[in-house]
Amino acid sequence: MSIDWDALRVRARELCTHAYAPYSDFPVGAAALVDDGRMVAGCNVENAGYGVTLCAECGLISDLVATGGGRLVAFACVNALGEPLMPCGRCRQLLYEFGGDDLLLDTPQGIWPMSRVLPQAFGPDDLTHVTGR
Ligand code: THU
Repeated sequence: MSIDWDALRVRARELCTHAYAPYSDFPVGAAALVDDGRMVAGCNVENAGYGVTLCAECGLISDLVATGGGRLVAFACVNALGEPLMPCGRCRQLLYEFGGDDLLLDTPQGIWPMSRVLPQAFGPDDLTHVTGR
């Protein structure tokens, strides 16, 4: 499956302009390619209760599930300068659930697989291994 990284970056930058980030003044936009060719996206949404803040990746995962699910193939996230931004630790875990080791990420150091961004990740297989479910 061919990946149009420029299209993902453009969409992520677009989403960044929709972010609600009045507290940090740090808008984030994210976009990803799904294995059926769909593109999903999200932006960060902050809250007066700071800890309630939703990262852009949360919106993206919600978009993925709400529009039919599937596996994430490629992911791009940007800051307000339009530069690639690494997902925070929690969001690496969120993305891992739906993309696994092979999900490709647009990082400041180039395209990296999730296996390198979140090595030896905990995931659904760890649960199945023990519970058999
Ligand atoms: N943020 C994201 O949206 N994604 C990340 O992976 C890193 C951080 C947001 C959360 C908060 O609204 C702002 O960036 C500053 O931390």
